[in-house]
Amino acid sequence: MSHKRVAILISGGGSNMVSLVDSMTGDHPARPCLVLSNDAQAVGLKKAADRGIPTAVVDHRPFKGDRAAFEAELLKPLEDTRPDIVCLAGFMRVLTGDFVSRFQGRMLNIHPSLLPKYKGLNTHSRAIEAGDAEHGCSVHEVTAALDDGPILGQAGVPIEAGDTAETLAARVLVWEHKLYPEVLRRFAEGDRSPVLLP
Ligand code: GAR
Repeated sequence: MSHKRVAILISGGGSNMVSLVDSMTGDHPARPCLVLSNDAQAVGLKKAADRGIPTAVVDHRPFKGDRAAFEAELLKPLEDTRPDIVCLAGFMRVLTGDFVSRFQGRMLNIHPSLLPKYKGLNTHSRAIEAGDAEHGCSVHEVTAALDDGPILGQAGVPIEAGDTAETLAARVLVWEHKLYPEVLRRFAEGDRSPVLLP
C-alpha cells in the first residue's frame, strides 16, 4: 500500500503537529512528508526535525503583506514534496482563495471553537465572555472563507466557573490532540463523515 503524503503547516509550538505526526504509524494510511512554518523561530520545527520529518521555513515578514508573493514562495516546498493532504495546525496566516483552491478538498484546519461560533482569533475569551456553558474545537475542510468549510469533526469541552482564556485553552488543547488525528485518519481513508467527541 502506498501511503498518503501529509504536509503540516505550523506557526508556533506545534503540539497539534506532533499529535498528527505521532499518529501516522503502523496501519495508518498516511505519513508526514513535510512540516512547513512561516516563522523560523517556531518551536514546532525542532520537534518535527527530532522526529525525522523534513522541515521548511518561508518567513512571511519580508513580503510586507503581499500575500500572493508570500504564497508563491510557500507553494515551492509543497510542490517539491507533493502532499496528498495539507493540514493547517496552528498556522496563523490567512490564505487566499487562490492558494486554497490548489488544495481544494484536501486541506484541513483545526480551529479552537465549536464552529460556526467564534471564527478568527481570541476564541476562548470570547466564549467565556458570552457566558457559554460549552466550548471546544473543530476540524474542517479549508475553503476560501476564513474558518469556514465542511466540518469534519468536533469535540465539546465544558466551560467551568473561574475559567480564564488560558485554563480553557489548555482544556480544549487536550481534545484537539485527540480530535485532529482521528479526523486525519478517517479523511485519509476517504471517509468524510464527521468525528464527534467525546
Ligand atoms: C491550537 O489551539 C490551534 O487550534 C490554534 O492555535 C493553537 C496552536 O497550537 N489555531 C488557531 O487559532 C487557528 N486560527 P499548537 O501550535 O501547539 O498546535
